Amino acid sequence: MEETTVTEISRRNFLKLGGGVAAGTVATVALPGQAQAAPADVGRMTLPYPHKVVTRARELRTNMPVNFNFPDAASPCTLIKMGRAVPGGVGPDKDIVAYSTLCTHMGCPVSYDTASRVFRCPCHYSTFDAELSGQMICGQATEDLPRIVLQYDAKTDTVTAVAVEGLIYGRQANVL
Ligand code: FES
Repeated sequence: MEETTVTEISRRNFLKLGGGVAAGTVATVALPGQAQAAPADVGRMTLPYPHKVVTRARELRTNMPVNFNFPDAASPCTLIKMGRAVPGGVGPDKDIVAYSTLCTHMGCPVSYDTASRVFRCPCHYSTFDAELSGQMICGQATEDLPRIVLQYDAKTDTVTAVAVEGLIYGRQANVL
């Protein structure tokens, strides 16, 4: 069995590392047998989002909401095919959008009103525009509804939730 040896950092490498730190840069050293962190992960302060397939585009009916949870079971969301292209819309018609359904005022569950195409909060009557990125229209809330970032794969016709824009009510980070 191979004996573990202490890794030596040569004087030259030690000085290189010290110089980088002195210059205000972040340096990482990979020891033999260790994978070095990918550049995109260096300095990451939050956990990555899961990817969740929500539906197939052809299964959607215009203006008929589909409920799901993202990025975890405690975060209710609603997806809607608006029937016309909207900001942030994905899919063949660029009309599929999704939002967190926890009101940004105090976290009551908002519901989608198919007649007016807005989300309404039953607690203090805030309303949010489903066609305009969840923009707050009126009420006690001061923030827009967090928008669920969706990706559409034309080959499989799948709509996948991949991120959240805006902070889900009651959280310090969207991914816990
Ligand atoms: S919790 Fe929605 S308006 Fe107050």
